[in-house]
Amino acid sequence: MKVPNHIAIILDGNGRWAKAKGMPRGYGHIKGCANLENICDDIKDLGVKYLTVYAFSTENWKRSREEVEGLMKLFRSYLKKCMKSAEKNHMRVKIIGDPSAFAPDIQEKIRELEEFSKDYDELYFQIALNYGSRDEIVRGVRKLAQDVADGKCTPSEIDESLLENYLDTAGVPDPDLLIRTSGEQRLSNFLMWQLAYTEFYFTDVPWPDFHKEDLIKAIEKYNSRDRRFGGVKEE
Ligand code: IPE
Ligand code: IPE
Ligand code: MG
Repeated sequence: MKVPNHIAIILDGNGRWAKAKGMPRGYGHIKGCANLENICDDIKDLGVKYLTVYAFSTENWKRSREEVEGLMKLFRSYLKKCMKSAEKNHMRVKIIGDPSAFAPDIQEKIRELEEFSKDYDELYFQIALNYGSRDEIVRGVRKLAQDVADGKCTPSEIDESLLENYLDTAGVPDPDLLIRTSGEQRLSNFLMWQLAYTEFYFTDVPWPDFHKEDLIKAIEKYNSRDRRFGGVKEE
Protein backbone atom coordinates (compact mmCIF):
# COMPACT_ATOMS: atom_id res chain seq x y z
CA MET A 1 0.00 0.00 0.00
CA LYS A 2 1.35 3.38 -1.02
CA VAL A 3 0.98 5.79 1.86
CA PRO A 4 0.23 9.45 1.05
CA ASN A 5 3.01 11.83 2.03
CA HIS A 6 0.54 14.41 3.33
CA ILE A 7 -3.00 13.82 4.63
CA ALA A 8 -5.37 16.68 5.44
CA ILE A 9 -8.52 16.07 7.48
CA ILE A 10 -11.62 18.20 8.04
CA LEU A 11 -12.64 17.01 11.50
CA ASP A 12 -16.41 17.25 11.20
CA GLY A 13 -19.44 15.84 12.98
CA ASN A 14 -18.64 16.22 16.69
CA GLY A 15 -21.93 17.99 17.38
CA ARG A 16 -24.13 15.52 15.51
CA TRP A 17 -22.30 12.60 17.09
CA ALA A 18 -23.04 13.97 20.56
CA LYS A 19 -26.66 14.80 19.71
CA ALA A 20 -27.26 11.23 18.53
CA LYS A 21 -26.17 10.11 22.00
CA GLY A 22 -28.44 12.65 23.73
CA MET A 23 -25.37 14.60 24.89
CA PRO A 24 -24.43 18.29 24.53
CA ARG A 25 -22.25 19.38 21.57
CA GLY A 26 -19.35 20.09 23.93
CA TYR A 27 -19.16 16.40 24.77
CA GLY A 28 -18.65 15.67 21.08
CA HIS A 29 -15.79 18.16 20.97
CA ILE A 30 -14.12 16.53 23.98
CA LYS A 31 -14.34 13.11 22.35
CA GLY A 32 -13.26 14.51 18.99
CA CYS A 33 -10.25 16.09 20.60
CA ALA A 34 -9.28 12.82 22.29
CA ASN A 35 -9.59 11.09 18.93
CA LEU A 36 -7.15 13.55 17.42
CA GLU A 37 -4.44 12.36 19.80
CA ASN A 38 -5.00 8.75 18.67
CA ILE A 39 -5.04 9.65 15.00
CA CYS A 40 -1.66 11.37 15.34
CA ASP A 41 -0.20 8.10 16.66
CA ASP A 42 -1.86 6.10 13.85
CA ILE A 43 -0.66 8.49 11.17
CA LYS A 44 2.88 8.19 12.51
CA ASP A 45 2.65 4.36 12.59
CA LEU A 46 1.47 4.28 9.00
CA GLY A 47 4.46 6.35 7.88
CA VAL A 48 2.63 9.50 6.78
CA LYS A 49 5.03 12.47 6.95
CA TYR A 50 2.60 15.41 7.07
CA LEU A 51 -0.80 15.73 8.73
CA THR A 52 -2.95 18.86 8.62
CA VAL A 53 -6.24 19.07 10.52
CA TYR A 54 -9.00 21.65 10.42
CA ALA A 55 -10.03 22.26 14.02
CA PHE A 56 -11.51 25.79 14.07
CA SER A 57 -12.46 27.95 11.11
CA THR A 58 -12.66 31.72 10.78
CA GLU A 59 -16.44 31.17 10.51
CA ASN A 60 -16.71 29.08 13.69
CA TRP A 61 -16.73 32.23 15.87
CA LYS A 62 -20.37 32.61 14.80
CA ARG A 63 -21.40 29.65 16.97
CA SER A 64 -23.04 30.20 20.37
CA ARG A 65 -20.90 31.86 23.02
CA GLU A 66 -21.18 28.76 25.16
CA GLU A 67 -19.84 26.50 22.39
CA VAL A 68 -16.98 28.86 21.48
CA GLU A 69 -15.96 29.18 25.14
CA GLY A 70 -16.03 25.39 25.51
CA LEU A 71 -13.80 25.05 22.46
CA MET A 72 -11.32 27.62 23.83
CA LYS A 73 -11.12 25.66 27.07
CA LEU A 74 -10.48 22.52 25.08
CA PHE A 75 -7.74 24.19 23.00
CA ARG A 76 -5.99 25.28 26.21
CA SER A 77 -5.80 21.74 27.54
CA TYR A 78 -5.10 20.20 24.14
CA LEU A 79 -2.19 22.51 23.33
CA LYS A 80 -0.59 21.50 26.63
CA LYS A 81 -1.16 17.77 26.06
CA CYS A 82 0.11 18.08 22.53
CA MET A 83 3.62 18.70 23.85
CA LYS A 84 3.70 15.13 25.20
CA SER A 85 2.39 13.83 21.93
CA ALA A 86 5.05 15.83 20.06
CA GLU A 87 7.76 14.39 22.25
CA LYS A 88 6.47 10.83 21.89
CA ASN A 89 6.06 10.95 18.13
CA HIS A 90 8.99 13.26 17.42
CA MET A 91 6.55 15.51 15.67
CA ARG A 92 6.87 19.15 14.83
CA VAL A 93 3.68 21.10 15.44
CA LYS A 94 2.72 24.25 13.63
CA ILE A 95 -0.51 26.24 13.92
CA ILE A 96 -1.87 27.63 10.66
CA GLY A 97 -4.46 30.40 10.65
CA ASP A 98 -4.48 33.74 12.44
CA PRO A 99 -3.76 33.25 16.16
CA SER A 100 -4.15 36.97 16.95
CA ALA A 101 -7.90 36.53 17.61
CA PHE A 102 -7.25 34.15 20.52
CA ALA A 103 -6.80 35.11 24.17
CA PRO A 104 -3.17 35.97 25.04
CA ASP A 105 -2.64 32.78 27.07
CA ILE A 106 -3.72 30.62 24.11
CA GLN A 107 -1.34 32.53 21.84
CA GLU A 108 1.42 31.90 24.37
CA LYS A 109 0.63 28.16 24.46
CA ILE A 110 0.82 28.08 20.67
CA ARG A 111 4.25 29.75 20.72
CA GLU A 112 5.48 27.36 23.41
CA LEU A 113 4.32 24.28 21.54
CA GLU A 114 5.84 25.43 18.25
CA GLU A 115 9.12 26.32 19.92
CA PHE A 116 9.23 23.09 21.94
CA SER A 117 8.69 20.89 18.89
CA LYS A 118 10.60 22.81 16.24
CA ASP A 119 13.51 20.35 15.89
CA TYR A 120 11.43 17.18 15.57
CA ASP A 121 11.21 15.88 12.05
CA GLU A 122 9.49 12.49 11.98
CA LEU A 123 5.98 13.87 11.54
CA TYR A 124 4.98 17.42 10.65
CA PHE A 125 1.62 18.25 12.20
CA GLN A 126 -0.29 21.38 11.21
CA ILE A 127 -3.36 22.38 13.20
CA ALA A 128 -5.65 24.92 11.52
CA LEU A 129 -7.01 27.25 14.22
CA ASN A 130 -8.93 30.39 13.30
CA TYR A 131 -8.06 29.32 9.79
CA GLY A 132 -9.84 30.26 6.57
CA SER A 133 -8.32 29.88 3.16
CA ARG A 134 -9.57 33.26 2.00
CA ASP A 135 -8.19 34.91 5.12
CA GLU A 136 -4.84 33.13 4.62
CA ILE A 137 -4.62 34.38 1.02
CA VAL A 138 -5.60 37.94 2.03
CA ARG A 139 -3.00 38.00 4.82
CA GLY A 140 -0.35 36.60 2.45
CA VAL A 141 -1.15 39.07 -0.31
CA ARG A 142 -1.03 41.95 2.17
CA LYS A 143 2.51 40.95 3.24
CA LEU A 144 3.55 40.52 -0.38
CA ALA A 145 2.14 43.94 -1.30
CA GLN A 146 4.13 45.43 1.57
CA ASP A 147 7.31 43.79 0.24
CA VAL A 148 6.60 45.24 -3.21
CA ALA A 149 6.00 48.68 -1.64
CA ASP A 150 9.31 48.32 0.22
CA GLY A 151 11.11 47.49 -3.01
CA LYS A 152 11.95 43.90 -1.93
CA CYS A 153 10.39 42.46 -5.10
CA THR A 154 8.67 43.68 -8.24
CA PRO A 155 5.16 42.80 -9.54
CA SER A 156 6.69 40.92 -12.48
CA GLU A 157 8.58 38.64 -10.08
CA ILE A 158 5.31 37.39 -8.55
CA ASP A 159 4.61 33.82 -9.59
CA GLU A 160 2.98 30.78 -7.96
CA SER A 161 6.03 29.72 -6.01
CA LEU A 162 6.66 33.24 -4.70
CA LEU A 163 3.05 33.65 -3.56
CA GLU A 164 3.20 30.23 -1.87
CA ASN A 165 5.98 31.53 0.35
CA TYR A 166 3.53 34.02 1.83
CA LEU A 167 0.93 31.40 2.82
CA ASP A 168 0.77 29.88 6.32
CA THR A 169 1.79 26.54 4.81
CA ALA A 170 5.00 27.89 3.21
CA GLY A 171 7.55 25.10 2.72
CA VAL A 172 5.05 22.29 3.31
CA PRO A 173 4.16 20.05 0.33
CA ASP A 174 0.51 20.09 -0.77
CA PRO A 175 -1.79 17.39 0.65
CA ASP A 176 -2.09 14.18 -1.39
CA LEU A 177 -5.31 13.08 0.29
CA LEU A 178 -8.11 15.12 1.89
CA ILE A 179 -10.54 13.36 4.20
CA ARG A 180 -13.78 14.93 5.43
CA THR A 181 -15.79 13.03 8.01
CA SER A 182 -19.50 13.07 8.77
CA GLY A 183 -21.04 13.21 5.31
CA GLU A 184 -20.61 16.82 4.18
CA GLN A 185 -18.95 17.24 0.79
CA ARG A 186 -17.54 20.76 0.77
CA LEU A 187 -14.30 22.51 1.66
CA SER A 188 -15.72 25.07 4.12
CA ASN A 189 -12.84 27.46 3.34
CA PHE A 190 -10.03 24.91 3.94
CA LEU A 191 -6.71 24.99 2.02
CA MET A 192 -8.26 26.11 -1.28
CA TRP A 193 -4.89 26.90 -2.83
CA GLN A 194 -3.10 23.81 -1.50
CA LEU A 195 -5.81 21.27 -2.47
CA ALA A 196 -5.69 22.09 -6.20
CA TYR A 197 -4.61 18.54 -7.15
CA THR A 198 -5.46 16.61 -3.99
CA GLU A 199 -7.61 13.44 -4.04
CA PHE A 200 -10.79 13.81 -1.94
CA TYR A 201 -12.31 11.15 0.31
CA PHE A 202 -15.65 11.67 2.03
CA THR A 203 -17.04 9.37 4.69
CA ASP A 204 -20.26 9.34 6.72
CA VAL A 205 -18.34 8.30 9.84
CA PRO A 206 -18.45 11.20 12.35
CA TRP A 207 -15.08 12.42 13.59
CA PRO A 208 -15.22 10.96 17.15
CA ASP A 209 -15.79 7.50 15.59
CA PHE A 210 -13.10 7.80 12.92
CA HIS A 211 -10.35 5.36 13.88
CA LYS A 212 -7.31 3.66 12.39
CA GLU A 213 -9.38 1.21 10.31
CA ASP A 214 -11.24 4.12 8.69
CA LEU A 215 -7.93 5.82 7.97
CA ILE A 216 -6.66 2.65 6.30
CA LYS A 217 -9.87 2.43 4.24
CA ALA A 218 -9.30 6.00 3.03
CA ILE A 219 -5.70 5.21 2.11
CA GLU A 220 -6.78 2.05 0.26
CA LYS A 221 -9.30 4.07 -1.74
CA TYR A 222 -6.57 6.61 -2.50
CA ASN A 223 -4.40 3.75 -3.76
CA SER A 224 -7.09 2.61 -6.16
CA ARG A 225 -7.14 5.99 -7.91
CA ASP A 226 -5.06 7.07 -10.86
CA ARG A 227 -3.68 10.43 -9.89
CA ARG A 228 -3.42 12.78 -12.82
CA PHE A 229 -1.88 16.20 -13.08
CA GLY A 230 -3.10 17.98 -16.18
CA GLY A 231 -3.93 14.64 -17.79
CA VAL A 232 -0.53 13.19 -17.00
CA LYS A 233 -0.47 10.13 -14.76
CA GLU A 234 1.56 10.11 -11.60
CA GLU A 235 4.96 8.40 -12.00
C1 IPE B 1 -16.37 19.77 13.98
O1 IPE B 1 -17.59 19.30 14.42
C2 IPE B 1 -15.62 20.57 15.03
C3 IPE B 1 -15.58 22.02 14.82
C4 IPE B 1 -15.96 22.64 13.73
C5 IPE B 1 -15.07 22.83 15.90
P1 IPE B 1 -18.91 20.19 14.34
O2 IPE B 1 -18.99 21.01 15.57
O3 IPE B 1 -18.93 20.95 13.08
O4 IPE B 1 -20.04 19.10 14.37
P2 IPE B 1 -21.35 19.08 13.47
O5 IPE B 1 -20.91 19.24 12.05
O6 IPE B 1 -22.20 20.23 13.92
O7 IPE B 1 -21.96 17.76 13.75
C1 IPE C 1 -15.54 23.03 9.02
O1 IPE C 1 -16.62 22.46 9.68
C2 IPE C 1 -14.59 23.59 9.99
C3 IPE C 1 -13.95 22.63 10.87
C4 IPE C 1 -14.09 21.35 10.84
C5 IPE C 1 -13.08 23.21 11.83
P1 IPE C 1 -17.99 23.25 9.92
O2 IPE C 1 -18.90 22.26 10.52
O3 IPE C 1 -17.76 24.49 10.66
O4 IPE C 1 -18.38 23.62 8.43
P2 IPE C 1 -19.80 23.84 7.74
O5 IPE C 1 -20.46 24.96 8.45
O6 IPE C 1 -20.54 22.55 7.89
O7 IPE C 1 -19.47 24.14 6.32
MG1 MG D 1 -19.72 20.66 11.24
